[in-house]
Amino acid sequence: MSLKKTLADVLAKAVPGEEVTVAGWVRAFRNQRFIALNDGSTAENLQLVVDPEKLDENLLKQIGFHACVRARGKLVESPAAGQKYELQVEEVEVLGDNPLSEYPLQPKRMTMEFLREHAAFRLRTQTLSSVFRLRHGLGYAIHRYFHENHFYYLHTPIITGSDAEGAGEMFRVTTLDLNDPPRTEDGAVDWKQDFFGHPTNLTVSGQLQAETGALALGRVYTFGPTFRAEKSNTPRHLAEFWMIEPEAAFFDLKDDMDLAEDFLKYLIRYALENYERDLNFLDKRLEQEERNKKKEERRPMGLLETLNFVLEHPFERITYTEAIRLLQGSKPYKKGRFQFPVEWGKDLQAEHERWLVEKKFGRPVIVCDYPKDIKAFYMRLNDDGKTVAAMDVLFPGIGEVIGGSQREERYDLLQQRMMEMNIPQEEMQWYLDLRKFGGAPHAGFGLGFERLVQFVSGMSNIRDVIAFPRYPGHAEF
Ligand code: 4AD
Ligand code: MG
Repeated sequence: MSLKKTLADVLAKAVPGEEVTVAGWVRAFRNQRFIALNDGSTAENLQLVVDPEKLDENLLKQIGFHACVRARGKLVESPAAGQKYELQVEEVEVLGDNPLSEYPLQPKRMTMEFLREHAAFRLRTQTLSSVFRLRHGLGYAIHRYFHENHFYYLHTPIITGSDAEGAGEMFRVTTLDLNDPPRTEDGAVDWKQDFFGHPTNLTVSGQLQAETGALALGRVYTFGPTFRAEKSNTPRHLAEFWMIEPEAAFFDLKDDMDLAEDFLKYLIRYALENYERDLNFLDKRLEQEERNKKKEERRPMGLLETLNFVLEHPFERITYTEAIRLLQGSKPYKKGRFQFPVEWGKDLQAEHERWLVEKKFGRPVIVCDYPKDIKAFYMRLNDDGKTVAAMDVLFPGIGEVIGGSQREERYDLLQQRMMEMNIPQEEMQWYLDLRKFGGAPHAGFGLGFERLVQFVSGMSNIRDVIAFPRYPGHAEF
């Protein structure tokens, strides 16, 4: 059996003189004669050459930006530069209705903000279609990498009764009538009467459940949607994003950092080797965007250059304590240009991370051994009693792409940490029991999928690398 051909198939196996039928959306229509057609399967367009004399006038009027057409004709070698073949059209039809004057998109420069308001159509644009092909390719490469390295794909729940990060930024899931919820005798909402018999939320991370997998299958990973109700209106935060979380038994923090670096480089290499056309387009696009910026705000390297640079250099690895010392010796610190304080015990802010990556080292940096009080309860306490075996991978232009740690495998220490941080033990007994019965040292991390796609595509806003972005005040479509 052979499937119907895409434009990518047609172009890859083109034979001059062959008769083919193609269908897609019009990217451009010049001189009533040349149609640039694209069906989404590739960044490459096929030029259709029509004879306006032979075309019905009504039909001609309907052919315009993003109209959907199907055409039959003969493939011939193209005299035009930049394309090998073109189609000499014998028959063409417009599929679907097409009141061109009412279509909201125009064949001119449109801002990303404008396109976001038209999410139903924006994937047809050259930029967004390249981004989404790349997003697909990275997703595929993620599964491939783990498969090759004996990690099993574990589907962890989306509705959960536990708060993995303990940050409390969760979306409640309930079937109770919010206008008139059942109440207990003392007037509080009676969650016992809710669907699950206790409060539940959308998950912020699949890690805790993934740990059960690691302590049974050895190496597992999750790749699913996660939800955070944090009011962060930044170009790097979404309320709904996809996270990849590997978890491996017998891994310590160094193994975890090695995994993170090897994994990220594999993914970047895969993109460079398999999405050349899309990356070339995005590289040029970014170059143009950069030209409109002030000189001091421009990126030091182009997109392809950055990706290759990251591949060729080892990530810098430093401790949190060292990072603080470097930051305190920095120019912006001394001149009072950082907005947030730099002090041992305080979390690193985006401005500090960017200085380390972009100014100090000029390459990805892994910061490890953070103070225990600014990190989650499950991270393994270091021998100094003050820091935990945590690590964050910081990327140029993006900041944190990965957050991970070696997990506390010692029952007593974990229990003590949970108490200190007011984590209710009854609900988490299953998690503690993982340490009691057949426990092992283990480690893992979480990679924010959209931040990765952002880095590889060079898009400046995370909202443009997910089809239907969710952020404060926005859940349309
Ligand atoms: O650092 P985070 O919060 O780590 C965890 O959730 C751990 N349970 C992971 C683990 O060890 N298994 O989140 C991991 C990554 C961040 O580094 C960032 O890339 C991304 O998830 N991320 C977000 N991406 C988009 N929008 C947000 N609001 C994000 N919050 C975190
Ligand atoms: Mg983090």
